[in-house]
Amino acid sequence: MRFHCAPSANLHGRHRVAGDKSISHRAVILGAIAEGTTRIRGLLMGGDVMATVAAFRQMGVMISSAHDDRDRVFTVEGVGLHGLREPDADLDLGNSGTAFRLLAGLLSAQSFPCVLKGDASLSARPMSRIIAPLTDMGASIVSESGKPPLEISPVNRLSGIIYHAPVASAQVKSSILLAGLYAEGKVSVIERGWTRDHTERMLSGFGYAVKWSRGLAQLRGGGRLTGQDIDIPADLSSAAFFIVATLITEGSEVVLEKVGINPSRSGILDVVRRMGGRIETENAGEAGGEPVADIRVMHSELTGCNLDGEDVILAIDEIPAIAVAAACAHGETVIRGASELRVKESDRIAAVVEGLRVLGIQAREFPDGMRIVGGKFQSGTVNSFGDHRIAMAFSLAGLVAEGPVDVVDCANVSTSFPEFPVLGKSCGMNITVHDE
Ligand code: S3P
Repeated sequence: MRFHCAPSANLHGRHRVAGDKSISHRAVILGAIAEGTTRIRGLLMGGDVMATVAAFRQMGVMISSAHDDRDRVFTVEGVGLHGLREPDADLDLGNSGTAFRLLAGLLSAQSFPCVLKGDASLSARPMSRIIAPLTDMGASIVSESGKPPLEISPVNRLSGIIYHAPVASAQVKSSILLAGLYAEGKVSVIERGWTRDHTERMLSGFGYAVKWSRGLAQLRGGGRLTGQDIDIPADLSSAAFFIVATLITEGSEVVLEKVGINPSRSGILDVVRRMGGRIETENAGEAGGEPVADIRVMHSELTGCNLDGEDVILAIDEIPAIAVAAACAHGETVIRGASELRVKESDRIAAVVEGLRVLGIQAREFPDGMRIVGGKFQSGTVNSFGDHRIAMAFSLAGLVAEGPVDVVDCANVSTSFPEFPVLGKSCGMNITVHDE
């Protein structure tokens, strides 16, 4: 699939982007192991979350979806912590690192064996980061190279752990917490940075006792979860593409409704403000135990900035979009401390720098980041390397380039934001999709 993006006039309107991917996965997972029914509104219908839904159906959980008078509602009939059944085949988590790592934790504690696998991109991603702590807890996990597939066998019991995580990763933390629901004793995850706390918030919403603060999460095994009604906020990581599109396109003003602005995850708002972006939050409220707000963005003159440490962790999925903003800014942007980007759905440092250069922007790779000098995008064809966020980020370049920008290998946009091109058009983006 190829996106063809031509220069566009101003972007405008009020829009709602799709449901938050991280929160959608967790709603399905916790709903499945809760007692009673969980009703989920606003679940992301992207490939990644649908892989999680399919995996639980394979393990005997009834998940149905229907429209009520407002929107689509997914109903998960929870089977309780000990009610999952052995799947009839390997669990294929597609492109989803979140599904894979969270399920590895949960399934390490079940009384049946299973195999977790994924697509080519996921099969190249590191899993030792979860295998090591889960094995320390007593899990039995076999993998040839520390990468998918994983063969998980049942064990008699898991024990508690005090885990000092070497990488700041909410997926690792969540994997350990989900295994910890079944452990004897206490599980503590201590992190070097502040990672998204969606699992902790949602566990607490399901009535499970969890203690958490910046860099620390703790629970004890042996509790229970009770089914809930959950409203999923719009995904800030998807909104990020429209935030940047609006900032860089002259005369634009867009409002994005009911977006999750959890501070453990909203770094992009601070970063673009530091770059001079005019961005306001309105109608602050709560959905699914998460802070939400409408985000109003206006075209702005941007200036480059430096990102490192916590900035990067809090905006880890938004770096490709931020890089496009940086290419349109005055001066230089330097991003360091971001080596995790090399093990996302693609090597995002290499993919971003290559794409920027193809479009005539000066950019250079560091092992842990990149340097971008603001300029003017030329016309060209960019490879997204099958990475949804690279594809969406570079389609924004077409808004302000000297001519059209084509982005190839875009099919995986459907993993996180299937409506992106349609919503883009309704904002005023000149984007067309070609099946080739
Ligand atoms: C996620 C955590 C982050 C993020 C990913 C979603 C989650 O990954 O990049 O898209 O839902 O927990 P890491 O935990 O590997 O940093």
